[in-house]
Amino acid sequence: MTQNSTNPNLDPEDWDQVKKIGYEMIDLLVEYHKSVAERPVWQPTPQDVKDMLQEPVPEKGSSLREVFEEFKTIILPYPTGNIHPRFWGWVHGTGTTTGALFELLAATMNPNTGGREHVANYVERQVVAWSREMLSFDPNASGLLTSGCSMANLTGLAVARHVKSEGKVRSDGLIQNGSKFTVYGSDQLHSSIQKAAEVLGLGATALRIIPSNDRYQIDLDFLKNAIISDIEEGFVPFAVVGNAGSVNTGAIDDFEGIANICTQYELWFHIDGAFGAFAKLLPEYEGAMQGLELADSIAFDMHKWMYMPYEIGCILVKHPDAHRAAFTLRPEYLSQEVRGLASFDKWPTEYGVELSRGFRALKAWMSIKEHGVAKYREVLLKNVHQARYLESLIEKTDQFEVLAPVSLNVVCFRYNPGNLSEKELEEFNTELLLRVQESGIAVFSSTSVKGKYALRVANTNQRSTYSDFDLLLSTLIEFSGLIASS
Ligand SMILES: Cc1ncc(COP(=O)(O)O)c(C=O)c1O
Repeated sequence: MTQNSTNPNLDPEDWDQVKKIGYEMIDLLVEYHKSVAERPVWQPTPQDVKDMLQEPVPEKGSSLREVFEEFKTIILPYPTGNIHPRFWGWVHGTGTTTGALFELLAATMNPNTGGREHVANYVERQVVAWSREMLSFDPNASGLLTSGCSMANLTGLAVARHVKSEGKVRSDGLIQNGSKFTVYGSDQLHSSIQKAAEVLGLGATALRIIPSNDRYQIDLDFLKNAIISDIEEGFVPFAVVGNAGSVNTGAIDDFEGIANICTQYELWFHIDGAFGAFAKLLPEYEGAMQGLELADSIAFDMHKWMYMPYEIGCILVKHPDAHRAAFTLRPEYLSQEVRGLASFDKWPTEYGVELSRGFRALKAWMSIKEHGVAKYREVLLKNVHQARYLESLIEKTDQFEVLAPVSLNVVCFRYNPGNLSEKELEEFNTELLLRVQESGIAVFSSTSVKGKYALRVANTNQRSTYSDFDLLLSTLIEFSGLIASS
């Protein structure tokens, strides 16, 4: 009789076999990453695979070997592609090989970081402290690791809403405290800010969209006038959101200008720095990032421009008491003890929505220790220089044009031979984007800049080489020629 039949559990019956297959998984991980450039960036998931992923729930289990083989056959070949050196779509980070191993270690310990007295929460505090240090942010700021920047933005704005309602929004809701709240940001804001406004019960129209200037930064005069006219009409402005690396073009707002307006009208200053926050590490962005430290809260990701595996974002809040007051809820079954496992002071769950949380901090702690900030600085700078390199390549062609200033690591451009209407240009460039994606040679995405359809390369890719951009350009030239002649 096996142990499993007397005591049903999910531990291996054959530990040595698990070890053997586990080693194979590590081999696969390392080889898969090492050879990634030899595979297509992306390929569609075939219909038979999609069909296989619609089977009824298995009543009976399979062997680990069988499940692993199935993973290799039907799952592994069809990734998003963002680990590939020629993936520059949306703002997807690449991750790292050791980062994947760190995830394994985190799951090995499998702590619940909602609270309690155990080392994972000290690791998270260390990572939050390092984040403050890397961003030169207030050393007393509170912080929380989140699933990503959407959640971090939501958390920051929830604190702002709480503060403006003088704490009443939690008990009485927005109808009585804040039905007229308004929040401001440029027309370059990421959609997660609108989602936050919706989820927080403010509604999308409470988010006042302020035009951006020719460098895609929020227009400060317009911002000020919008606040004044809202106050005159009985609205209650409570926050302004600045961009540290806007999603469309990588623009960095004038933080000092926003901070002055926020001080004048007693508004919360939140920065969405999903990827761009880490430009703070680069001496050549010292001027552009000036004033970041003036924000009341800043949201950013480590799975984007710190290249860590998904998911890991972070919110820092300059007012730790307000941050905690916006979320803390400690019923009797989550009570604090003076000693023992429940004795950790100020549980992470008191700083955000989630109670159960995984060990996100470990991959950050190990990655930052392994590489050191100097290495991140080098790779970040490489990405910026590669963006400028691509810009220069595009500018040298007759048929492509750059559509927005390359202020960071994002290049917006399009094919434009000069004799097509805007509608035709959109159709042509869409076809070009799809053909390149489907070829498996490279992936980039699209957006709209000042009303023009744009192809968009966002470079948060630690694996990209300069020759990857040469290949991108030659592919664009070749494919646009094919489309033009078809
Ligand atoms: C500027 C900006 N803000 C917020 C987000 C949302 O971050 P996440 O996808 O981690 O939720 C993104 C995502 O690309 C972004 O670019």
